[in-house]
Amino acid sequence: MLKIGFAQFAPFFGNPHKNAELIESLAPEFCSADLIVLPELCSSGYNFSSREQALSLGEVLHRSPFIERLQAICIKHNLYLVAGVNEREGDLLYNSAVLVGPGGMLGKYRKMHLFWNEKDIFEPGNLGFPVFQIENFTLGILICFDWIFPEAWRTLALKRADVICHSSNLVLPGLAQRAVPVRAVENRYFVVLANRIGDEGNLHFTGASAIAAPDGDVLAQASENSTEVKIIEVDISLARNKQITPRNSVLSDRRPAEYDL
Ligand code: ACM
Repeated sequence: MLKIGFAQFAPFFGNPHKNAELIESLAPEFCSADLIVLPELCSSGYNFSSREQALSLGEVLHRSPFIERLQAICIKHNLYLVAGVNEREGDLLYNSAVLVGPGGMLGKYRKMHLFWNEKDIFEPGNLGFPVFQIENFTLGILICFDWIFPEAWRTLALKRADVICHSSNLVLPGLAQRAVPVRAVENRYFVVLANRIGDEGNLHFTGASAIAAPDGDVLAQASENSTEVKIIEVDISLARNKQITPRNSVLSDRRPAEYDL
């Protein structure tokens, strides 16, 4: 059994220090969990006025006080965190999510499918769709607008991810929240959708973070507008059974040769 969950909140724009403080203030609620997913870009906020502004708020991952403070939470509560960060590498920025544990940063995913004005700020992801083995389970990471590309979700299923950490700043009302349980059932894994709430400039973020099960059930869902932490205990072996009937597997019944264009 594994305890997985999300924290839904409104990051402070432009203030990684205050965002670390906010996450620390929620951390006592994480204490029973094995894995908590945090929203996209929760170090910096989302709605940058320029690329220069975004660069000034970027985290250089190997010397990021924000990530060190996430690690301290992991040590204190003996858990893993997946958190969206504005990653700076030289003069380039990536919309990334990091996996952090008691021993430090274990890996990162760089968002593949950039949404709208993100294309003016970030480089598209260049690290593929990695999976990470943690103790007795495997996790994959996707970020927000990746939701609309089922290929990304399928790739992680084919790499045997048990849990998808979907770190988000969703703005299109209700669409991803409806799609995520479908992604869960079509791949037969767990999905933790950690969305943010609140407003930045002309953008309104839609909350309703959720945990979906391999049968498509929504095990937990947050409201559209309040700070919430939710944790659910799940039987991870359910994500390893890809049968949808005794004679149908969502993976081995695929016909990849027929999908060739
Ligand atoms: C989004 O990809 N942040 C909508």
